[in-house]
Amino acid sequence: MCPPEYFTVTYSINAWMDTAVPVDTELAVKQWERLRETLVGLGHQVDVLAPLVGLPDQVFAANGGFCVDGTVYGARFRYPQRTAEEAAHQAYYEGAGWHYVPASETNEGEGDFAYVPGPGLILAGYGYRTVAAAHAQAQEVLGRPSISLRLVDPRFYHLDTALAVLSEHQVAYYPGAFSPASLRVLEQVFPDAVRADETDALAFGLNLVSDGRHVVLPAEATGMAARLAAAGYQPVPVELSELKKGGGSVKCCVAELRY
Ligand code: ARG
Repeated sequence: MCPPEYFTVTYSINAWMDTAVPVDTELAVKQWERLRETLVGLGHQVDVLAPLVGLPDQVFAANGGFCVDGTVYGARFRYPQRTAEEAAHQAYYEGAGWHYVPASETNEGEGDFAYVPGPGLILAGYGYRTVAAAHAQAQEVLGRPSISLRLVDPRFYHLDTALAVLSEHQVAYYPGAFSPASLRVLEQVFPDAVRADETDALAFGLNLVSDGRHVVLPAEATGMAARLAAAGYQPVPVELSELKKGGGSVKCCVAELRY
């Protein structure tokens, strides 16, 4: 995770970012700190990346790489405003002893890559940021089969705004974010998925972090919390209203480290 000390919205690269809407950076830091404490309270170890001046989106640490079995497939950002984040993530991963493999294809790490541990599957989004060629590259680097899913709604420009891994085998997703064919693929591979509706997705209810039991999600996503509780999970709401102005929430803030 990386604290939002320099978070603000000075450019717009997704449908959520409006440079005319003021951001309370101090509040963003407080809310982020609560998220960090929540994860630590659930027993997770959290490493913190030092934020750099001039990189307002660095708080969205999930975009800096995609890690499976101790290997990290590095990010290559779509927009120049975020390119300088790549080196910071690479330095962190290499310094912490991960096997870091730089990418030659555009991809935004866990923004567009998810890992389902049970079947050992990579789910990979494309359409707005990550290119489909990066899915093949990730499969080659990580040695796990990758399933490409096409995103078709600009409000859900990263896979992690439309789909989440809840447990070893179960996922949740918002059907409206995917092309008809990709939706058929999801239905075939995950017949027992938790399906979210548009309201859930707009509240960033799919931008969550789950340990298989506790699901940390934005407080605003009350409908999603109810669905998750009905499916046997324990929702853990956190307030992240400021970061939403940048187009991200819980999951975007957390790059998961998989040994
Ligand atoms: N402002 C950031 C961008 O548009 C938000 C990234 C959100 N991160 C995520 N994993 N969805 O790049």
